Amino acid sequence: MKTLVTGATGFIGTHLVKALVEKGRDVRCLVRKTSNTTYLKKLGVELVYGDLLDRDSLKGIVKGVNIVYHLAGEVYSPKSSGYYKVNVNGTKNLLEMCLGEKIEKFVYFSSIAAVGPNPKQGILLNEKSPCKPITPYGKSKYLVEKLISMFSKKYTLPATIIRLPTVYGPGVSTSSRVFTMLELIKRGLFRIIGNGNNVISLCYIDNLINGILLIDRKTQNTNYTIYFLADQKPRTIREIAEKIAMELDTKVSRFYIPVWVASIATLVFPAFKKWGNKFPTSLRDMIREIPNSWACDISKARQELKYDPMVDFDEGIRRTVIWYKEKYG
Ligand SMILES: NC(=O)c1ccc[n+]([C@@H]2O[C@H](COP(=O)([O-])OP(=O)(O)OC[C@H]3O[C@@H](n4cnc5c(N)ncnc54)[C@H](OP(=O)(O)O)[C@@H]3O)[C@@H](O)[C@H]2O)c1
Repeated sequence: MKTLVTGATGFIGTHLVKALVEKGRDVRCLVRKTSNTTYLKKLGVELVYGDLLDRDSLKGIVKGVNIVYHLAGEVYSPKSSGYYKVNVNGTKNLLEMCLGEKIEKFVYFSSIAAVGPNPKQGILLNEKSPCKPITPYGKSKYLVEKLISMFSKKYTLPATIIRLPTVYGPGVSTSSRVFTMLELIKRGLFRIIGNGNNVISLCYIDNLINGILLIDRKTQNTNYTIYFLADQKPRTIREIAEKIAMELDTKVSRFYIPVWVASIATLVFPAFKKWGNKFPTSLRDMIREIPNSWACDISKARQELKYDPMVDFDEGIRRTVIWYKEKYG
């Protein structure tokens, strides 16, 4: 089965391509001229050079492809416009390439950010929750979902949207929330913003990969489906921080930052040009996101896909910290 993976050099893409190769899939990867392809070359997959933003470079990319896993995108942009440009316009370019081809499934990696935070503590987000994204990244992911839904209906393109919370595990990107937490906790600089009782869903990379492979096998009745994939249950931000600290043989500071102090900082810092550049959109968004709950219900995936996240939170954090210590000391 011919499979196209975009974003194959990223954190999730690398793990996914490895799993697909192990399953004997014929994998084609979209990579940029600037991408680090060393690992993909070792796996022996087909590399096609192109860029989501360069429509011409995508010509022929889906020829003979049965399944598309579309992961490529802007995850941490210094400017809001970067999210819309790459995520929305780039995905539109790729979708246009799929028209007239015999794509059996277009799988898109969306985010809980497309839905927005939980409106009430204790009520988990599910696939039917209304989308109210609060960050430019979340808004761009929501727009991509709408775009795919439109293409799916208009051109009968079978599509599955996977909505993910923060994904963690060995190889996590150095610009991710989890990596930032690891660094700050190690240095004793991590502070909980708010009371620390807000709940967060996480998804360990192996759980995610197993879930993706289930989607691949499933014969869906509908042309367009959404699933949340995550670990067994959400955790409070305090639990997450304390577990990471424990694995790093340290402790989390008892000093909490009130939400209003953090909010003022996000307004004041960018006003100073000198600091503004060092205070990129992604960091402002992060502070805006942190005091909220971002927790989802995975019942639909459990029921329809028989998704079963086997790696629990303690084990997932333990493996992530082992990798982090080995790589970053
Ligand atoms: N990681 C998470 O916690 C998380 C949570 C929710 C949703 N997601 C979604 O899952 C997907 C993958 O996430 P990730 O963490 O693996 O991301 P990542 O590590 O930042 O990787 C991003 C990938 O996209 C590629 N890319 C970026 N711009 C491109 C362009 N213009 N043309 C072609 N390729 C381009 C990058 O290629 P280069 O190697 O050339 O830079 C890289 O392979 C993203 O769509 C993200 O929004 C991730």
